[in-house]
Amino acid sequence: MIEATDFIPSKYSQTIESGNFQWSAPSNIALVKYWGKKDNQIPANPSVSFTLNNCKTITKLAFAKKNTSTPVSASNDTFSFDLLFEGKPKEDFKPKIQKFFERIEIYLPFLKDYHFTIDTENTFPHSSGIASSASGMAALAMNLMSLEKALNPEMTDNYFYQKASLLARLGSGSACRSVKGQVVVWGNHANIKGSSDLFGVEFPNAIHDNFKNFQDTILLVDKGEKQVSSTVGHDLMHDHPFAERRFAQAHENLDKLITIFENGNVEEFIKVVESEALTLHAMMMTSMPYFILMKPNTLQIINAIWKFRNDTKIPVCFTLDAGANVHVLYPNNTKEKVLQFIAAELVGYCQNAQYICDEIGNGAIQS
Ligand code: PMV
Repeated sequence: MIEATDFIPSKYSQTIESGNFQWSAPSNIALVKYWGKKDNQIPANPSVSFTLNNCKTITKLAFAKKNTSTPVSASNDTFSFDLLFEGKPKEDFKPKIQKFFERIEIYLPFLKDYHFTIDTENTFPHSSGIASSASGMAALAMNLMSLEKALNPEMTDNYFYQKASLLARLGSGSACRSVKGQVVVWGNHANIKGSSDLFGVEFPNAIHDNFKNFQDTILLVDKGEKQVSSTVGHDLMHDHPFAERRFAQAHENLDKLITIFENGNVEEFIKVVESEALTLHAMMMTSMPYFILMKPNTLQIINAIWKFRNDTKIPVCFTLDAGANVHVLYPNNTKEKVLQFIAAELVGYCQNAQYICDEIGNGAIQS
């Protein structure tokens, strides 16, 4: 079994003074949800997601050895970095990066040797309520791995991607599913070969053509700041009365999805995915303290989707992340009809009529 300590490097064969890399990494949408964690961002249950294609973070990482061209203030025993968001300094993102660097330093012992400039932007509108932590942490992790690969060119691709996902996980759990592959599993599962609590892996079994180019239209119901962060939500699973049963259910639902992905049964897919979304929110509503992230329009959309599906027999369904927005999932061959339905009947429930058309993608890309 692969251990976290396998990712602590011994010695690098190369030295490098300065340079830059650029990676984009997509967001992902979980089908079986990660909700609840142990220490070190180890998930309480396995999860699986579709990687998205259009909702991405693009991050450029410039680096320079401290003793050559850095501000005098950057001493050798502190992390030194500037953070730009859409080209402008963004101080309020810095504590998150500082914490990320602290967590991953053991795996990347060169971090304090460099001054970094992290220049980042999203393809989706900011404050859309779409979490940028998954794509953002994945994009930064890819860049840091490019630097480590430059220091150790012998590194295998397998190690590169596993470690990138491990680092992303330490930034934000679900970020580890935004590195590589269209369908990504994170967390040990008895029947998924290679699955690990430490990093995401590409779903290794067969995937039926019905799921190829699957579509995800994200309806922006509420773009405001969430009242309860995911960090607090995960934490509330510790003393949750239904936690153990929920964690067991996630394993069962993954088993169901293994079969569904193989036989292409979209009706069964819908049952698992919608039940997972509602279970996630049921966990929030039954935490102590309890909370609700859905909004009235979230429920209006869910009911409209159910009615449309019932009337037309078109296999469209919804899922939710930790917020009020609705992800509408449907097969590629129903795209025209579903987009018409969304434009005619769902747009009115979106804030400023905003929605984003996305679909399954392949993961992070270097540019
Ligand atoms: O990665 P985090 O800590 O923001 O947690 C994300 C949790 C959900 O989006 C609700 C579910 C998931 O598996 O992505």
